[in-house]
Amino acid sequence: MSERWAFLHQKGGTGKSTLAIASAQAMAARGRAVLILDVDYQGTASAWGERFSEAFNATVEGGVEVRSLVNADVAENLRRFAVVFDIIIVDAPPTLSALSDDILRSVDRVLVPTRPSWPDVWALATVAGLVVPATLSARVDVVFNQYQNEDLGALRNEIMEMGLNVLPDAVPRLGDFAELFHSGFAGPQAIAVVDRALTLP
Ligand SMILES: Nc1ncnc2c1ncn2[C@@H]1O[C@H](COP(=O)(O)OP(=O)(O)OP(=O)(O)O)[C@@H](O)[C@H]1O
Ligand SMILES: [Mg+2]
Repeated sequence: MSERWAFLHQKGGTGKSTLAIASAQAMAARGRAVLILDVDYQGTASAWGERFSEAFNATVEGGVEVRSLVNADVAENLRRFAVVFDIIIVDAPPTLSALSDDILRSVDRVLVPTRPSWPDVWALATVAGLVVPATLSARVDVVFNQYQNEDLGALRNEIMEMGLNVLPDAVPRLGDFAELFHSGFAGPQAIAVVDRALTLP
């Protein structure tokens, strides 16, 4: 059975697709077969996949494959691909909807990349509204992304008061991540950071 992860937030541009793809690359480099299910109508991960995922040679010795799955049954597709891939990562759209509920209920781990800014943190209240009262089996972690030496203390407290867990390591803003959409590969510094911050298997 594969491990199923999702990256979501109730806000655009927080780094869901970036961290989803960088995590996929980090895990593929360890010989895991990783599938990214792109359920975002914007198609960022699919566009990346069309251009670059061939270079990762998915399947036999690990690699990354991307499938676009807009308006499809996420739970059903997670079941279908579970026999083929070690890890399946769902890259969610920028706004929460009924789809988010389906995603939350069908994965093992949810990562919520959040920029260290108040509007991003306020928007987490909607995520908390879905996650906290529900009986989810998924582990849900907020991770600060695009960190640039901001003071995280008050932001962290606000998130914890919402009942959400925040990972101890923040992911910094690095050119190495932006490189992902240029050369196809997140640079080694980005891979190392994501590996540690998200405690990738
Ligand atoms: N840690 C980082 N360092 C540098 N640039 C980053 C980092 N994380 C994200 N970015 C950049 O921020 C922009 C938005 O990232 P991304 O597309 O991953 O966000 P998203 O949450 O998936 O957006 P959307 O909600 O539109 O799907 C991109 O240009 C990406 O290169
Ligand atoms: Mg995205």
